[in-house]
Amino acid sequence: MTALPKHFQAFRIHNDSDGYRAGPEQVSLDQLSAGDITLRARYSSVNYKDALAGTGKGKIASVFPITGGIDVAGEVVASEHEDFKPGDQLLVTGCQQSQQRDGGYSEYLRVESASAIPIPDGLSLREAMIIGTAGFSAALGLHRMEALGQHPDMGPILVTGASGGVGSFAIDIFTRAGYEVHALSGKVDEFDYLEELGARQCISRHDLHWGQKPLEKARWAGAFDNVGGDTLSGLTRVINYYGNIASCGLAGGVGLHSTVMPFILRGVSMVGVSSENCPREMRAKLWARLASDWKPSRLERILDKEIGMADLMPTFNAMLEGKSFGRTIVKLG
Ligand SMILES: NC(=O)c1ccc[n+]([C@@H]2O[C@H](COP(=O)([O-])OP(=O)(O)OC[C@H]3O[C@@H](n4cnc5c(N)ncnc54)[C@H](OP(=O)(O)O)[C@@H]3O)[C@@H](O)[C@H]2O)c1
Repeated sequence: MTALPKHFQAFRIHNDSDGYRAGPEQVSLDQLSAGDITLRARYSSVNYKDALAGTGKGKIASVFPITGGIDVAGEVVASEHEDFKPGDQLLVTGCQQSQQRDGGYSEYLRVESASAIPIPDGLSLREAMIIGTAGFSAALGLHRMEALGQHPDMGPILVTGASGGVGSFAIDIFTRAGYEVHALSGKVDEFDYLEELGARQCISRHDLHWGQKPLEKARWAGAFDNVGGDTLSGLTRVINYYGNIASCGLAGGVGLHSTVMPFILRGVSMVGVSSENCPREMRAKLWARLASDWKPSRLERILDKEIGMADLMPTFNAMLEGKSFGRTIVKLG
């Protein structure tokens, strides 16, 4: 069992009369959010939401100071809950971390048992954080699309924002589940990478011009969208009969301008992906699949960087400039 030190490092976000600022600093456990499990965190990861919270460019955190990091995986040091004992390995993704409670960029933290998922057989702590919220969201989107009847025989799926963390996992996991995946990306130089993950066709977002009619020629059987805005609006016009669009991200905007035509004439459905608020039972089921039949086959290829807390700020800035690629994990301590 790991001994609990008095002071340790955490990436803290402040917003007070001295302005919005963030960086690693020394903290003690009693400064951090309460929870019935004390965790020795080993890995966290970098998600778009972390970049918004860390830089203050999006309103994510609602209490200050707060520790950043929406994801964490580590070992239990102490537990007041009978289902968890010292030495057990667990993960938490979302669940208000870095929003209303202290998050995973911290060598130690307390988490709530209601949010904790035991690391399933077949995954290491490090692999769990390479997947993190990004891979979990891709799996959640696939699960929700299939619940509405999406099936590989219906035809190809388009993944947008393809070279990002969620996009990379969506390509890998949908391919693993038997789908033909097409990738829409702004990074023409990364087409080889997208093909390695399983994409059968790569399309440059700079060359794609969506028609503006309520219904254009149907090109895909479904889509997983990380971009929102004009991209999501365009997708509604080109999805075939009874196809589904999983709306996951807003990297290109929050707007959505469409008509009812795709819904009432083609039976298209839009499904929401909220990894943050996914019920615990579904979380556990999806993590079990991510450790088995949906385990991404190119985890190490999707991992771009392993960084420390001191490298978080430049990583956030690159991500918000659309320059990030695959996944970045954070090694703690
Ligand atoms: N709903 C949920 O539960 C949930 C969970 C996780 C993430 N998200 C959201 O999903 C999105 C992707 O997250 P992520 O962690 O994968 O972020 P990421 O690694 O930064 O990936 C985003 C990708 O979107 C594309 N992109 C960036 N700016 C764009 C723009 N202005 N217009 C069009 N495309 C643009 C880029 O891919 P290309 O260069 O390849 O086009 C970029 O790599 C984010 O909006 C995030 O907030 C939602």
